[in-house]
Amino acid sequence: MSAGNSNIAELRDVKMQFEEKKVLDGLSLTVRPQDRLVIMGQSGSGKSTILRLILGILQPNSGSIFFKQFEITRLPRRKLQQVRRKIGMVYQYSALLSSRTVRDNVALPLEELTDKSREEIDEIVDQKLELVGMKDSKDGLPSELSGGMKKRVSLARALVMEPELILFDEPVAGLDPVIASVIDELIISLSEKSKVTSITVTHEMGSAFRIGTRMAMLYQGKIIEDAEPEKFKQSANPVVAQFLSGSTEGPILEGSQDAIATK
Ligand SMILES: Nc1ncnc2c1ncn2[C@@H]1O[C@H](COP(=O)(O)OP(=O)(O)O)[C@@H](O)[C@H]1O
Ligand SMILES: [Mg+2]
Repeated sequence: MSAGNSNIAELRDVKMQFEEKKVLDGLSLTVRPQDRLVIMGQSGSGKSTILRLILGILQPNSGSIFFKQFEITRLPRRKLQQVRRKIGMVYQYSALLSSRTVRDNVALPLEELTDKSREEIDEIVDQKLELVGMKDSKDGLPSELSGGMKKRVSLARALVMEPELILFDEPVAGLDPVIASVIDELIISLSEKSKVTSITVTHEMGSAFRIGTRMAMLYQGKIIEDAEPEKFKQSANPVVAQFLSGSTEGPILEGSQDAIATK
């Protein structure tokens, strides 16, 4: 079986549990070219797990996961490593190496995964740092940078392999609101410029609606709503309504993520 040739990514009936804890419970989702898909959900609902499954870092208990025509869940290790190069990941905590300069952090994937010359690598690194507005800081160390700047550098690093899909894990968590908006704008402009498809997972509403061209809501292991932003806002689903309003009244309860663990 292969994914419909028009999808960039697809999850089909994916189940994932960690020991006794069921996290994904028959989740299905498709990502089309140039979508900026935002997956919203409570903390602990399984958002990062979805991204790690798409990267093939985790194997689901059942179901299948595709990146373009490749079934990630069935690829031999070597092929998986090749395919994964076309997926960029921006981690929640930036994950920069503290002993390496900005330049060397961004160059890392090119040094490890390609046989490009030093000159070629320098050129690509400069170009990506320019795109994210960080060229002037290339000789600095991550410890000298603010949270927003670190995020930009990790975005540059995710871009050096010219990915077809970029995954953002909580891209604005921990950033102040103004910097968060700047990062949101950057995600939008990059995806428009380079025509790259992206999946952003977040629990921050403002950011979600700035970035998303399509919104999906993860709840109790499934996607319970998946629509364009305007339609999503009008969802009749009480869970979505409660999530959007941040109300304490409704089906979402504190600790409700534990509910599927005991089923
Ligand atoms: N490697 C793991 N081993 C055990 N439990 C895990 C592992 N990864 C995630 N979990 C659990 O799975 C649930 C979902 O985690 P995660 O995907 O990180 O949530 P989110 O990103 O939405 O906050 C959490 O309860 C978390 O503790
Ligand atoms: Mg997470």
